[in-house]
Amino acid sequence: MSTLPVVRIADAGHHDGETVRIAGWLYNLRKSGKICFPLVRDGSGIIQCVAVKSALPEDVFESIKNLTQESSLIVTGKIRAEARAAGGFEMDVESVEILQRVTEEDPYPITPKDHGIEFLMDHRHLWLRSKRQTAIIKIRHEVIKAVRDYFDSNGFTLMDTPIFTPAACEGTTTLFECDYFEDEKVYLTQSGQLYNEANAMALGKVYCFGPTFRAEKSKTRRHLTEFWMVEPEMAYATLEDVKRVAEEMIVFIVGRVLENRKAELAALDRDVQKLNAIQAPFPRISYDEAVKILQSKGSEIQWGGDFGGTDETILTEAFDRPIMVDRYPSEVKAFYFEPDPDRPEVALGVDVLAPEGYGEIIGGGQRVHSLDLLLKRIDEHKLPREAFNWYIDLRKFGSVPHAGFGMGIERCVSWICGLEHLREAIPYPRMLNRTRP
Ligand code: 4AD
Ligand code: MG
Repeated sequence: MSTLPVVRIADAGHHDGETVRIAGWLYNLRKSGKICFPLVRDGSGIIQCVAVKSALPEDVFESIKNLTQESSLIVTGKIRAEARAAGGFEMDVESVEILQRVTEEDPYPITPKDHGIEFLMDHRHLWLRSKRQTAIIKIRHEVIKAVRDYFDSNGFTLMDTPIFTPAACEGTTTLFECDYFEDEKVYLTQSGQLYNEANAMALGKVYCFGPTFRAEKSKTRRHLTEFWMVEPEMAYATLEDVKRVAEEMIVFIVGRVLENRKAELAALDRDVQKLNAIQAPFPRISYDEAVKILQSKGSEIQWGGDFGGTDETILTEAFDRPIMVDRYPSEVKAFYFEPDPDRPEVALGVDVLAPEGYGEIIGGGQRVHSLDLLLKRIDEHKLPREAFNWYIDLRKFGSVPHAGFGMGIERCVSWICGLEHLREAIPYPRMLNRTRP
């Protein structure tokens, strides 16, 4: 075994002129009788290797020439700067150790030719190795890190909320029910918000960040049944605070991705000019104004109705940055929204709609903080009071105005990456018709 250091492809530039090893998989192979160009990937990047027949023992050259796509291998060679190479460097091969050679009888199923989306989704466990998918995953990671950094450096404490819950948060029609012990039923959480409200009364400013579940029977490009949501919650805060924090957070996230993920955005052919435009302030419009805009553009919407995906797209068309739509009718919103004191028929809630047709990425607002009103709302929504006893307690023991929001990570990633469908924004998407792989 060689003792030469294993270098990650992304760091190859720090080893110009050195002989090192690269441990990875064969991405592609161009070959002629006298020279082969294996493209090797290791997750950090792709490097072109150059294997020259006259410079190598016969058997080594032959084994390289016969390599198959996605075979695992450790290549030893000298790193050399090459202006024309994608990462700026190439490797001159000296030897190769093949760990597992993919056979011709059972070749790697995803070839450079075009495959249909269902085929790719069925092979998601392998498709994740592609250039495009690795770029998306790295941007997802950057978004998540930026979200955490934003909250961590603004006085919020991370406080995770349970996944098995006894009650609905976002309406009873999208609950996944599970059998717990001894005939007890629990539900997979739709949102950590209710617990987060308790957390905010303990720590002032908190956020939770975890998987959430919705039994959405919709087959749209914007819906998953399992998705990740970050939810900040603040005590002594109002709808206006929600807007300010949401705006600041989004600008921060997009800035981070532009700064640290240029190569990945390029791999996705993302128009970065569109992302450069994401600066504060975001336009703020009311639900009332939004309905008028939609009607003037030919939509059938009437005051009181909720917006569909198409409505959201139409609304954002005139803007180059996310827009904030506030004060929806209380009727179309969840039970916990505080009504506007001047117009109790509308809720102190806001949706943030992303540009380019990506629709709602954030939903949030101010919560009901009076005990009487909360009890009334729970009853109106036909929710079982006993499951909410602890939540009701928060209105008895030092209740204060408080507010927060939730951002779906996949919605955000999908927009920043410019994806057609949310299914590519999460490693293993769960949808109406997909629970595999
Ligand atoms: O608007 P929603 O339903 O709001 C809540 O869950 C609040 N309890 C959040 C809060 O105030 N703490 O969902 C929030 C966000 C949406 O804006 C969207 O980004 C995402 O979660 N989302 C989904 N993402 C993917 N698939 C789905 N089925 C989604 N449903 C909501
Ligand atoms: Mg919503």
